[in-house]
Amino acid sequence: MNNYGLNIWSDKNFIIKDNEVTLNHKSMPSLLKITTEIRAKDVRGPILLRFPHLIKKQIKNLYSQFNYAIKENSYKGTFNAVFPLKVNQFPHLVNAVTREGKEFKYGLEAGSKAELILAMSKTNDGAHITVNGFKDKEMISLAFIAAQSGHNITITIEGLRELKTIIEVALSSNLTVPNIGIRVRLHSTGSGTWAKSAGMDAKFGLTATEILEATKLLERASLLHKFTMVHFHIGSQMTDIAPIKRALREAGNIYAELKMLGANALSKINIGGGLAVSYEQHSDASTHNYSLEEFSSSVVFLLAEIMNAKSVQHPDIFTESGRYIVASHAVLITPVLELFTQDYYEGLLNFKETNPPLITELRELYKHLNPKNCIEYLHDALDHIESLLTLFDLGYIDLQDRSNAEILVHNIIKKSITLTSSINTQELKQLQVNLQERYLINASIFQSLPDYWGLKQHFPVMPLHHLNSKAMRGASIWDITCDSDGEIGFNPDKPLFLHDIDLDKEDYFLGFFNVGAYQEVLGMSHNLFTHPNEYTITIDENGFEIINCVESKSILDILASLGYTKDELLNKLKLDLTNSTFITEKEKSDTLSKLETFVEQNGYLRTTN
Ligand SMILES: Cc1ncc(COP(=O)(O)O)c(C=O)c1O
Repeated sequence: MNNYGLNIWSDKNFIIKDNEVTLNHKSMPSLLKITTEIRAKDVRGPILLRFPHLIKKQIKNLYSQFNYAIKENSYKGTFNAVFPLKVNQFPHLVNAVTREGKEFKYGLEAGSKAELILAMSKTNDGAHITVNGFKDKEMISLAFIAAQSGHNITITIEGLRELKTIIEVALSSNLTVPNIGIRVRLHSTGSGTWAKSAGMDAKFGLTATEILEATKLLERASLLHKFTMVHFHIGSQMTDIAPIKRALREAGNIYAELKMLGANALSKINIGGGLAVSYEQHSDASTHNYSLEEFSSSVVFLLAEIMNAKSVQHPDIFTESGRYIVASHAVLITPVLELFTQDYYEGLLNFKETNPPLITELRELYKHLNPKNCIEYLHDALDHIESLLTLFDLGYIDLQDRSNAEILVHNIIKKSITLTSSINTQELKQLQVNLQERYLINASIFQSLPDYWGLKQHFPVMPLHHLNSKAMRGASIWDITCDSDGEIGFNPDKPLFLHDIDLDKEDYFLGFFNVGAYQEVLGMSHNLFTHPNEYTITIDENGFEIINCVESKSILDILASLGYTKDELLNKLKLDLTNSTFITEKEKSDTLSKLETFVEQNGYLRTTN
């Protein structure tokens, strides 16, 4: 039985029970049961499920591992964390993060004006707000307003010009000045796909010379007492611990040097985000090489070592890990709408009274295939199909013969693979590519898995059910966009196998996991497919509850969000239909009401026929 790498990526959040993917929490509902209950309300497109208990688990893990490391290393500073809003700003996610993080005083990080407004409205009392990214005078003033309103806010400067604006705003108003942080430009770089956030050519941060200049500017403006934080971030999804340690040494030493130079108010070091998530589902695929335990103890140990060596007080530690906190909380579930190689179904064979000799031979091979002869027969079949295709090109066999040949060879390959395990690996891979089935899913990869489209970031995928039977079909996944990039191709080195399903008889659902970070907010409305219906699922000992339903935008709302006027569009459609001829008034009014219902539905497919 294939467990689709659950042991690699799921962190025991999901298990297989009664042949279905099941939440490993309290009453342990299966994803299929939840999906079936939602679909009973006439929902047909993709659905996104949020599981707040998984957010709680991650927040708890983060705090408890760091607090444990602090205790173990007799570290004198405290541990603090903020959630970077850029990772997911959807309301039911942000509400869950702030609710589950309340007991820890878990704060929020903002990287834009809109995110800052959100952070100011949603941060728990007493929790921190950090502000990163490029800022103008308005955004800086907003941080002053936040400080004046009682928020514990630190505004991190990305360049000297920003600092000059902060000083200008401070000198021209009586508003409370926020705490000031400096993002340092490290020469240490990160690792992995998102490693561009550090290094001397990085987009963000101040060089050593600029840091010194900044402290002078602060001192001259009598604001040095507001300079409280040194910040760095070397990139998201850091796969290797070594660069993290190098960056920590560098930033830790900058911190200690600044303290020794008289930056007395400095008391916090913010190590940014970047804690990695397991996305791989094949045992030989490389994922990150460290655990949270190793990460937290390395951070605490190294900072203590640097500060002790320079006799500097241990700083409070801040992290801004986002992916780690929310990736696991969301699962995208998509119905499969069609399997395209059903065309090779045996029942479609249509032999003539007299068939070309090679076809007769293929029939015999197929009939007598057994574990002993299957490799030899398979090779004969592959040889015959080459000859038959040439005969077709030369006009010696017709389309029906060709169809029979393709169906026979397809089934000979399929059966041979199941009969023997001794096919040469390279050959097996090629056969799997030839045999691959295309599973059409009712979803958009551009909308729901944009990092797959843009960066080929793999997301764990598996069927929700049938897990007692071995999936044999090498699978590629096609989405319903009108774009050939909307495909997750079959990769023989990291193959995905799915089941042979007769969709006329039963539904088949795929789950895409760890999609809670970045995917929803980066998702694009290509072909005007929008965010799927979403639901929050709470689970207790007695069962589960489906709450916070947010429906995917209706077709009219999608168009309105682009700037079209709904009434204008609808009136034109109605007018054209009303002016049309050859149908009765009754048919017209029935069609009109159908049209009205249709434009109020979302754009995903409801049926394929
Ligand atoms: C400054 C900063 N902090 C935190 C993060 C969050 O990173 P992650 O989601 O990988 O933890 C980012 C994202 O790249 C960032 O730019």
